[in-house]
Amino acid sequence: MSVLKEPILKLSRSNGMRSFVSRNRLGRTMARRFVAGETLDDAIVATQELNKSGIKVSLDHLGENTSNPAEAEHATQQYLSLLDRIAQEKLDANISIKLTAMGLDIDPKLCRENVCKVLERAKSYRDTFVRLDMEGSDYTQRTLEMFQSLWDEGFRNIGVVLQSYLYRTWDDVEKMIGQETRVRLCKGAYLEPDTVAFADKEKVDASYIKCMEALLDNGNYPGIATHDQQIIDHALKFVADHNITPERFEFQMLYGVRRDLQRKLVEQGFNVRAYVPYGAEWYPYLMRRMAERPANLIFIMSQFWKG
Ligand code: FDA
Repeated sequence: MSVLKEPILKLSRSNGMRSFVSRNRLGRTMARRFVAGETLDDAIVATQELNKSGIKVSLDHLGENTSNPAEAEHATQQYLSLLDRIAQEKLDANISIKLTAMGLDIDPKLCRENVCKVLERAKSYRDTFVRLDMEGSDYTQRTLEMFQSLWDEGFRNIGVVLQSYLYRTWDDVEKMIGQETRVRLCKGAYLEPDTVAFADKEKVDASYIKCMEALLDNGNYPGIATHDQQIIDHALKFVADHNITPERFEFQMLYGVRRDLQRKLVEQGFNVRAYVPYGAEWYPYLMRRMAERPANLIFIMSQFWKG
């Protein structure tokens, strides 16, 4: 782990730093690389551009940890408007939501009602798919339980994210394969104790590869969410060796990261989806991107001072 990763992730939870960076010109310059903009229109323009180059999109209205019902209601309304626009503009896009934005910390019942509104609206638009993003490990069990109760109620336009850094993930992968749930597999972006997660990159990667192979072999249209060239090369070899055709899975990458690779995979005939975040609450998202690659911070600061 880079020595900067832990302090940057700790800062991602600091309210003081959040208000300082969010108001600061350098902060906004940094955010621009990873976030499509602050408005729904910005997100639509970014999606249209990506769709033109053959890249699918998952849209995320930024926001997490709402602390009162009105905020959770506001987040829900944002997603309903987003679904309306995706349909109106005929975009090749689905949505990603965070349960803490929908009110999980306030009241699970309220959160469930909000998510149901989103799922129903998404269903009315030709079954638009809704991905439940995965947050820190305090939320893993609750997120999977919420997902399961919605799945058991009959919603099928919903899927989960599993993080290869968690010890528990192999069991979750097997369960999701068994019930044909769509899984996005990522490494995991939060600061986690070694009681629940591998700290070592080699172990996180080995866990990723094990879970990825199982999902590619037997999963329901898995999302292989990584920018890791070695893992992507491994996936390409695995699908070629096992006659797994491109329509059975997709690669997923973050907006602003490895655009070259996104385009190259599309040219090779693979499905690629970019995760496109937008909205004013970009601070914690930006800090997680900085923690993944602290060199971003140095690069962007140098651009800022030049400009
Ligand atoms: P790794 O961190 O090992 O990086 C491999 C290489 O990718 C780096 O060497 C660099 O070249 C490039 N790279 C990675 N991150 C970069 C960055 N920020 N800027 C520039 N280059 C970068 N996490 C989570 O906990 N819950 C979730 O719901 C999601 N959702 C999600 C959706 C999608 C579509 C993606 C791609 C990722 C997520 N993540 C996530 C984030 C994920 O857990 C992980 O933190 C990042 O993808 C970085 O890990 P990599 O797999 O890219 O590998």
